[in-house]
Amino acid sequence: MTDHIRLEHVTLDFPGKHQRLTVLEDVSLSLAQGEFVVLLGPSGCGKSTILNAIAGFTGARQGRILCAGQPVSGPHPSRGMVFQQPNLFPWLSVLDNVTFGPRMAGKKRAAANSEANAWLRRVGLEGFEHHAPWQLSGGMKQRVALARAWLPDPDVLLMDEPFGALDAQTRMMMQELLRAAWRQTGTTILFVTHDVEEALFLADRILVMSARPGTIVDEVVLPFGPERDIETLAQAAGYSDIKQHVLHRVRAEARRASQAGGKEGDK
Ligand SMILES: Nc1ncnc2c1ncn2[C@@H]1O[C@H](COP(=O)(O)OP(=O)(O)OP(=O)(O)O)[C@@H](O)[C@H]1O
Ligand SMILES: [Mg+2]
Repeated sequence: MTDHIRLEHVTLDFPGKHQRLTVLEDVSLSLAQGEFVVLLGPSGCGKSTILNAIAGFTGARQGRILCAGQPVSGPHPSRGMVFQQPNLFPWLSVLDNVTFGPRMAGKKRAAANSEANAWLRRVGLEGFEHHAPWQLSGGMKQRVALARAWLPDPDVLLMDEPFGALDAQTRMMMQELLRAAWRQTGTTILFVTHDVEEALFLADRILVMSARPGTIVDEVVLPFGPERDIETLAQAAGYSDIKQHVLHRVRAEARRASQAGGKEGDK
C-alpha cells in the first residue's frame, strides 16, 4: 500500500495574546490508501487542527502535508470533511442538501440527484429525500451529512467527532453504517473521537496524541480484521488488553493537559 496522506514534521501555531500558541509540534504521520485511522487525544491537543490542516484550511509553519504525493495548498473536493454538527441548510430538502456542493460546482441536477438517491438509500434515508432537516432526528441528519460528504466520491474523508452528539444506540448504528460504507468505497479515513470503544470498532490503526503542543505519542495497530461485529468485538482476542492500554494512554495525556491547564496561556 502507498502512503496517501503524509504529515512530515509539521509544526503549526496560531496568534496568541502575547506570543504565538504552538498547537502542533513536529507531527509526522501517514495514512495508507484506503486505511481507516482514528486519532485520540485530550481536548485542545490539536486533533481538529490536524484535520483542518489536511483539509487545506490551515497552513503549517514548518513541515509538509502531502496528499497523494502533492503538497496540500488549499481545500479540494477530493478531501471531504464531516463535523460533529451536521450543518445542513434548513431551507433545503434532504436531497438538495446532499447535492448542493456538486450543483454549485456545475453538475447537472438530474445526474446529481440520481447519485444522491443512491447514497441516501445506502445510508437508510430512502423515502426522506423531500423532508426538511427540521423533520429529521439527530442521527438522520448525520446520515444526510455522510451522504453529502461521500457524494463527490472523495479520496479522503476527515471526520471530526461525527457521532459525538448522538445517543449510544444511534451512535452504534452509525458506526456500523460508516464501516460498511468505508468497506464499499475504500475511502481513506482519518476519524477523531474521544470514545475508545468507537476507535476500537472502527479503526485499522489508532494514533494517540499528547497534550498541547500536540504530537503523536502512541500507535496501536488493531488485529481484529475486516469483519467486525459490534456486539461481539469485545470478546475478540486481545480486545481488553488493547482497550486498557489505549484508555491508559489517553487518560494520562488528559491528566497532563488538565495540569497544564492552570498554566494555560500563550506558550
Ligand atoms: N483558528 C484558530 N486560531 C487560534 N487558535 C486556535 C485556532 N484553532 C484552534 N486553536 C487552538 O488550538 C488548540 C487546539 O485546538 P483543536 O481544536 O485542534 O483541539 P482538539 O484536539 O480538536 O480539541 P477537542 O477535543 O476539544 O475538539 C486550542 O488551544 C485552540 O484554542
Ligand atoms: Mg476538536
